Amino acid sequence: MFDILKKVLKPVGPSGLEEPVAAAIRVEVKDYVDTMETDAMGNLICVKKGTDPNGKKIMFSAHMDHIGFIVTGYEKEGFLRVTNVGGIGIDVSLTRHVVFANGVEGVVVCEPVQGAKAMKNLFVDIGAESKEEAEKKVQLGDVAVYAPDCFRLGENRVASPAMDDRCACALLVKLLQTVGETKDTVIAVFSVQEEVGCRGAKVASFAMEPDVGIALDVTAWGDTPEVKLPAIKLGEGCAVKVMDRASISNPALRDELLACGEAAGVKTQREVLPFGGTDAGAMQTSRGGIPVCTISIPCRYVHSACETIDMRDMDAALKLLTAYLKK
Ligand code: CO
Ligand code: ZN
Repeated sequence: MFDILKKVLKPVGPSGLEEPVAAAIRVEVKDYVDTMETDAMGNLICVKKGTDPNGKKIMFSAHMDHIGFIVTGYEKEGFLRVTNVGGIGIDVSLTRHVVFANGVEGVVVCEPVQGAKAMKNLFVDIGAESKEEAEKKVQLGDVAVYAPDCFRLGENRVASPAMDDRCACALLVKLLQTVGETKDTVIAVFSVQEEVGCRGAKVASFAMEPDVGIALDVTAWGDTPEVKLPAIKLGEGCAVKVMDRASISNPALRDELLACGEAAGVKTQREVLPFGGTDAGAMQTSRGGIPVCTISIPCRYVHSACETIDMRDMDAALKLLTAYLKK
C-alpha cells in the first residue's frame, strides 16, 4: 500500500488540472478493470464488471485534486499575486515551498499587515527579478500546490501535502488490484474538482447511475492537544461517516459498512463531522437520489503541507471494503 501511496502522492494535480494524477493511476489499475475512460471533466472512471447480471452498481469516488494557489497578477519586482483554489489556509501556507505544473518553484509569503491576514496579502516569490521575468516563467491562471513530499512519522504514520485525497486514491487502486471477482459491478471514479464543490463526482454519478455511492476521503482529527472534535483518533481504524455538512449517510448502508468492518475484524470509528463534506454529498442528490456513505481515513492537519495519516487505518479501510464487496 505504501508504494502505491508514494506513486499517487507525487503528481502535481490542483483542482481542474488532475490529468497527471489520472496518468499515474491508469498504469496501476489497467490490468484489473474491464473499462477505463476519462470523461469531459477529467474524471477517470474505471469499471470492473460483477459476475451477477442482477448485481448492483456500486460507485466509489476518491478525488484526485489538491488545493492550490492560482496566479492573479504580478508585482513589478517579480512577485506573483495569488488567490486560493479550494480551502487553503493562510497561516499554514506562510513560507511554504510550492511548485507549478511546469516545474517552477516558489515560496509563499505574506506582506506585513495590521490585523487579520487575507489572501490578497500573500505573494509568491519565484526568484524572478522583474515582472517580465515572472511572466515568462508563470502565466496568469497557472496554479501552484504545496511541493510534493512524503515522509514517515514513527512506525505507522505518513505525512504529505496531498494526502487529501490521494491516500483514498491509493486505497481505491489497491482495492481494484486485490478484490478479485465480485458479484456487484464496481465503478471506481477518481474524481476531479472536489475541493471546489464536488463537481466531478456530480457528473460522474449522473452518468454512471449507481445503485450505491461510497465516497473515500480523509476526515479531521480530535486527538491532538486541545482538539476534541470530531471524536476521531489516528490508528483507531477507518471512520464510517454518519454525517457532515454535505451529506447524511444512508443509515442502512452505514450500518452495513460498520458490520462489514466487524466481520473483517478491523477497528472502525463512527464519524460525525461538524464541518466539511465529500463526494458523497454530490452522489446523494444525483438523479432520483442515491444511498451514500463515506469511508474516511482519519487525517491530522488536513489542508496543510503535512497532512498525516496512519497506515493501519488504510489497511482497516481496505479490509472493510473488501468484506463489503465480497459479502
Ligand atoms: Co480537502
Ligand atoms: Zn478530500
